[in-house]
Amino acid sequence: MEFRIRFSGKSHDYTEEEIQTVVRTIKEAEPYTQGRHMQAFQERFAGYIGGGQAFAVCNATAALEMSAQLIGFEPDDEVIIPGHTFTATAYPFVKKGARIVWADMDLGTRVVTPETLAARITPRTKAIVVVHLYGYAADMPGIMDLAARHNLLVVEDAAQSLGTDVGGGKSGALGDFGVFSLHSHKNITTLGEGGVLWVKDERYTRIVPLLRHNGHTGFDFEREHYWVPAMGNVDMPELDGRFLMPNNFCLGEVECALGAKMLERIDRINAEKRARALTFIDALAGFPELEFHRVDTTRHNYHLLAARMTSGRRDEFMAAMAYQKGIQCVVQYYPLYRYPFYQKIGMGQAECPNTDRFFDHMVSFPFHHWLSDDDLEYMLDSTREVLLSLR
Ligand SMILES: Cc1ncc(COP(=O)(O)O)c(C=O)c1O
Repeated sequence: MEFRIRFSGKSHDYTEEEIQTVVRTIKEAEPYTQGRHMQAFQERFAGYIGGGQAFAVCNATAALEMSAQLIGFEPDDEVIIPGHTFTATAYPFVKKGARIVWADMDLGTRVVTPETLAARITPRTKAIVVVHLYGYAADMPGIMDLAARHNLLVVEDAAQSLGTDVGGGKSGALGDFGVFSLHSHKNITTLGEGGVLWVKDERYTRIVPLLRHNGHTGFDFEREHYWVPAMGNVDMPELDGRFLMPNNFCLGEVECALGAKMLERIDRINAEKRARALTFIDALAGFPELEFHRVDTTRHNYHLLAARMTSGRRDEFMAAMAYQKGIQCVVQYYPLYRYPFYQKIGMGQAECPNTDRFFDHMVSFPFHHWLSDDDLEYMLDSTREVLLSLR
């Protein structure tokens, strides 16, 4: 059906300057991958999130898979992952041999906490994946304390939270590995696909380029002629005596040039989304049956605008919004342990009552950056009318 307000898969429009960056790079770049734009983007990205090493990759799923490879899972090793997230947070760890133990969320903030994670730690736990879902940065200081006490590595899935901060640092640069997405849905996108893997430990920075690009590397001796014994070397990425299989997870030069340019605008986009979210939330303050997570600081970028219906009438609300008002709200992040994918591999068991309670009553509003003020107002009026009709 045709919606008046779609749940769009495109998060933002591009400015003329951003479009010109793309056009210029198409005309000038040589090569179209692995060149100076990638280097510049990586440096700018690391600078933006506060240091460390950033590696451009084709998407966040690839970055998650590389973080799983770097951690290195032995049979029966466990990784704790929130049950309420997108599947790409989790299955790369299955691919790399980990057993997933699902952690619950806090009902108010919709993310994991040190307490919900601590409840899942066993002697087999090797790592924790924290997801800053909906664009809200989880309690990283508390989680890093917990991880230090139990000697665990922490991956931050900051796919949705670029630009947010907590405890004085930017999300995605507070754990051992940070994963960012520049997918079409995200607050900034590099033409639909893109991502970044951030690593803290310098031990990893040497091997990530090999892991990202087919094991390509230099020779460790001076060659007399540039073509002998070969144009380039291929070696096995090696970490602490472990061999890691390489991939091709590169991001092209045009995307990298655009990514560097978009970093100039991320704070503005986040601030605009947050201001709009707060306007929307505050205007619905008289409707406690729709419970939002209100955060008026840079800890939340409102990548998504999600609420929980406490009246038990979520599906009636969804139907009225869709079929009477033409507004495509959605219900998202099916608890992963309910999917056949995880059930078929024996990972369908979980004790996550808050996740179940939230998901079964949640509503996610269309909230792309290019939504017009008129559309926002129409969505607000429609929400009020539908809620009143359900009272
Ligand atoms: C929480 C989360 N993790 C991981 C991903 C995967 O990102 P990508 O599409 O860049 O691989 C997404 C994006 O959709 C996401 O929302």
